[in-house]
Amino acid sequence: MDANANLLSIAPALLAEWLCDARQRSLDLIADLDDDQLLGPRLSIVNPPLWEIGHLAWFTEHWVLRHAGQQPPLQGDADALYDSSAVPNATRWDLPLPSPAETLEYLRQVHERVLDVLDRGPTLQERYFILLAIFHEDMHGEAFFYTRQTFGYPRPRLTVAARFQRAVEVDRHVKNVPPQSSATASLSGDAFLQGGTFLLGAAPDEPFVFDNEKWAHPVLLRPFAIARAAVTQAEFAAFVEDNGYRRPEWWSEAGWQWRQMAKAEQPLYWQRQGQGWLRRDFERWLPLEPHRPVIHVNWYEAEAYCRWAGRRLPSEAEWEAAAAGSPKHRYPWGDAPPDATRAQLDGYALGCCDVAELPEGDSACGCRQMIGNVWEWTADDFGPYPGFTPDPYRDYSQPAFATRKVLRGGAWPTRARLLRNTWRNFYKPDRRDVWAGFRTYEVRG
Ligand SMILES: [Fe+2]
Repeated sequence: MDANANLLSIAPALLAEWLCDARQRSLDLIADLDDDQLLGPRLSIVNPPLWEIGHLAWFTEHWVLRHAGQQPPLQGDADALYDSSAVPNATRWDLPLPSPAETLEYLRQVHERVLDVLDRGPTLQERYFILLAIFHEDMHGEAFFYTRQTFGYPRPRLTVAARFQRAVEVDRHVKNVPPQSSATASLSGDAFLQGGTFLLGAAPDEPFVFDNEKWAHPVLLRPFAIARAAVTQAEFAAFVEDNGYRRPEWWSEAGWQWRQMAKAEQPLYWQRQGQGWLRRDFERWLPLEPHRPVIHVNWYEAEAYCRWAGRRLPSEAEWEAAAAGSPKHRYPWGDAPPDATRAQLDGYALGCCDVAELPEGDSACGCRQMIGNVWEWTADDFGPYPGFTPDPYRDYSQPAFATRKVLRGGAWPTRARLLRNTWRNFYKPDRRDVWAGFRTYEVRG
């Protein structure tokens, strides 16, 4: 069963608002790119932005209009161009892609038709697939951000950023929270959990969850300690300065193999300057921000740091238990949706904040920023929960099982509407281009 009656709690007007918001974000993220930049260099980890825009239209048309709405295709060749399951990544630069103007027109046509569906009153199935299309566009939006970082394109200009900044200020004023710039400290120490039986995964009363979160099932946890904050750039620099990348004892066999092959000596976007380091942030080189989380490190780098520090990565269950509390909540702070005083999300800030910021978002055990700021690698391989069956978008989770590691919590460009404590992201362990960092864990007792 993919759509359940709880979906009715999300009104068509809200779906229309999210649809338009997701679309505006996509358009913002490509608005300043010329035709060459819309193709970009061939890399296996990204898509040509022009292809990705057409793919957004195709995905929405495929599921909402054609699958749920039984409408005929708008364009005869769209499946051959944009079906991500059928068109290999390496060939996407060679396709006879329509021009940017034609691609945007296809995007517009699909968008108008979906808004028509919402206007006339969508079926439960149509609501489900519209929500899926919004979340799909949200995820590609995050990918557009890291594609721009990968290519060294300028930081994007987001049309609603100014409005958001004002809202943050008002929100902070109302809640009497100090402005962000005053928080410049790190946040050391651990939170402690007793362990015991924990229900890992989503509960069936959620309006929408992905197949890989289904369903909550008991797992036994030992007592443990987990860092209150993600590992910072300053902390990671200490590992680099201690010759961390040159000492095989800190690396697993697979990790050391990767390190040698990649000739990695420091995080991907770091460059030595004098006694310190610079970090590339989109098109600019900046000094390290010592109290912000280390970001763009892969699973192997996270694992090596943990071993050097006498720690390890938390399992998914440990991470989720530290975030969700007991009884479980939807977010670390409770069940209210994320806002700017609790989580660094939605892309507007164009980067991370210090790990000590946003204390209002703490989980019950005292962990900070478990939602937002930086994705956090966990120790676990991505796999199905007991009783897994794929949802209609079959190629979302299943093809990735066993070859990816799980990340939790979302990062600064992740859309707030997408996330909850049970949300599972998954990347190959050698990915350094994504918005990933980590926090550490220790067995106790
Ligand atoms: Fe996609």
